[in-house]
Amino acid sequence: MISSLLLGSSGLVGGHLLRLLLSSDRYGEVRTLVRKPMGIVHAKLRESVVDFDHLEDAADKVTADDVFCCLGSTTSSASSKEEFRKVDYTYVVEAASLSLGNGASRFFLVSAIGANPRSPFFYTRVKGEVERTIAQFPFQVACIFRPSVISGERKNRRLREQIGVAGLRALSVALVGPAKKFRLITAEDVASAMLFAAESNVTGVRIFESDEIQKMAALAS
Ligand SMILES: NC(=O)c1ccc[n+]([C@@H]2O[C@H](COP(=O)([O-])OP(=O)(O)OC[C@H]3O[C@@H](n4cnc5c(N)ncnc54)[C@H](OP(=O)(O)O)[C@@H]3O)[C@@H](O)[C@H]2O)c1
Repeated sequence: MISSLLLGSSGLVGGHLLRLLLSSDRYGEVRTLVRKPMGIVHAKLRESVVDFDHLEDAADKVTADDVFCCLGSTTSSASSKEEFRKVDYTYVVEAASLSLGNGASRFFLVSAIGANPRSPFFYTRVKGEVERTIAQFPFQVACIFRPSVISGERKNRRLREQIGVAGLRALSVALVGPAKKFRLITAEDVASAMLFAAESNVTGVRIFESDEIQKMAALAS
């Protein structure tokens, strides 16, 4: 059995992925890095509370065979564009770099639909930049997941996201062919697809659009 490291375990996708990793026979140890204790007790779980602004101080904790990253801020919850970029780019890249230095060989990242370093939109531009940097690291495997709008039960309400979820739910049947990738996707399906990819023989740098994530989740169930 091998070890895994999960960043973003307290989030919507990360929470589902944590549950899946803990019940997977593939992993003997599931490490998490959090900024507040989650209060979960499990024989396989090794939770570390860290200061993400000084992740290098906890470098010995940023170690595993497979690294899963579900970290993310939102442009509305972050206090500034710099704050958003810090979480969605800097923290992700620093975690990838430290884990690589500690021998990690595979990195699984949740990005977003439309990610493009040349995007005129700040959110998709930052996502594109983080994808590009992760793809350049010498991991044996780098899987990048680009979900559409994600649905699921959140502790806190996000009005803008709820409007997006409601709109896409209504449109869902009309989104066919290449437009299928815009369909709403559940956080649980994104997490299942990430574990499915980790359990498969995927190699190199792979980018999975939202409709492919959906198919992988269906295969996993
Ligand atoms: N939601 C969507 O519709 C959607 C669509 C496409 C792509 N995505 C992307 O998918 C990924 C996962 O989304 P999600 O909806 O599961 O996210 P989420 O529920 O908001 O969770 C985000 C995670 O990042 C952590 N985080 C946020 N700010 C942080 C900070 N300043 N320092 C340390 N940790 C911080 C959170 O920790 P705390 O609990 O400590 O805050 C949480 O674990 C993100 O990269 C997001 O951009 C989301």
